[in-house]
Amino acid sequence: MNDLAGKHIVLGLSGGIACYKAAELCRALIKEGASVQVVMTEAAGQFITPVTMQALSNRPVYASQWDAREPNNMAHINLSREADAILIAPCSADFIAKLLHGRADDLLSLLCLARPIAQVPLLIAPAMNREMWAHPATQRNLAHLQADGATLLGVGNGFQACGETGDGRMLEPQELLEDVIAFFQPKRLAGQQVLVTAGPTYEAIDPVRGITNRSSGKMGFAIARAAREAGAQVTLVAGPVGLPTPRGVTRVDVKSAQNMLEAVMQHAVSASVFIATAAVADWRPATTAEHKIKKDGTGQCPSMGFIENPDILATVAQSPRATAGALFCVGFAAESHDLLAHATAKRVRKGVPLLVGNIGPATFGHDDNALLLVDERGARELPCAPKLVLARQLIADIAGRIRVSA
Ligand code: CTP
Repeated sequence: MNDLAGKHIVLGLSGGIACYKAAELCRALIKEGASVQVVMTEAAGQFITPVTMQALSNRPVYASQWDAREPNNMAHINLSREADAILIAPCSADFIAKLLHGRADDLLSLLCLARPIAQVPLLIAPAMNREMWAHPATQRNLAHLQADGATLLGVGNGFQACGETGDGRMLEPQELLEDVIAFFQPKRLAGQQVLVTAGPTYEAIDPVRGITNRSSGKMGFAIARAAREAGAQVTLVAGPVGLPTPRGVTRVDVKSAQNMLEAVMQHAVSASVFIATAAVADWRPATTAEHKIKKDGTGQCPSMGFIENPDILATVAQSPRATAGALFCVGFAAESHDLLAHATAKRVRKGVPLLVGNIGPATFGHDDNALLLVDERGARELPCAPKLVLARQLIADIAGRIRVSA
């Protein structure tokens, strides 16, 4: 995907060992379609050479406010006017302090100060030792910088180059990339609380066996990510899948349909949107054996009874908040044929304003999908595309419906 196509990013490096991650970040931004202009402080040049960053960005690196390559000798003006965003990664404690005070004695701080503040956002990826990070001066400076309009991308936690362990590591390049992509997405769901279910459920037969299905969770995880990108607070109730949690999303792992129902009911009380993408098992074994069921040598198979699982979507859709219009419910239908007819009937049966149909066998485990959005007026098709693209289109559609009903 080219989520940053047409975006021009000034990638600023200040002094810190995390400069080595900035090389990977530069590559990742370019792979996603952005053009990248690297600007380095003198201290950054102690950690990584401009040669590396030039080769990766395919542009000469700027390091001095006296750079004679600019005809007007005003690199700080020219570079900041071209940018769709300035991203400082790594941003050292010292550089944060400089930005806060509006100091401008090197090109990078100068162009941050000179940027048209309403048009060119400033994104900060701090990187420092845990004591420096926790120091009241740093925390105070960061709070003030955010009040001045900068966007703080947070820090990671873990082993640090100094040998200590704690907060203050620069986020990994892929995490920063996800944050930058999210930054540019329209904030259609700002202020909303979105609850998503995803993946299969697992209904235990005994401690080593169970019933599950082929749902990969990819569509639901993409929807959680898209909702987060759109500015919502997102809780993702996930069945057993091996997918990484989207940035900024609160994940609750569950196993069985009953676990999923409990988690959903707990979080539905504060949600304004509920999107049920999970492929919930329709039935569970009537009993779960405490110990592994063994062959008894007679050739007889064990017999098994089933109980129908609760319908999570229908339960939420019938709750007082949903019927009063405070919780907008969206269902999914994985069908094998006659999508429109099944999805239309299922929407009415589940009691939801919007039902999203897809062909299960064609989508389970795949990165692409096609969706059919069915409401009381009819159906709209979202043609085959990567799941994240479809998720963003669906979120835009839901945001429009919430606005209309508000
Ligand atoms: N769903 C749910 N709880 C269940 C079963 C389904 O919340 N116990 C939700 C799914 O997350 C999805 C929608 O209901 O949003 C449709 O699920 P699906 O399994 O396709 O529908 P069923 O009700 O099982 O209907 P059928 O078996 O006839 O296809």
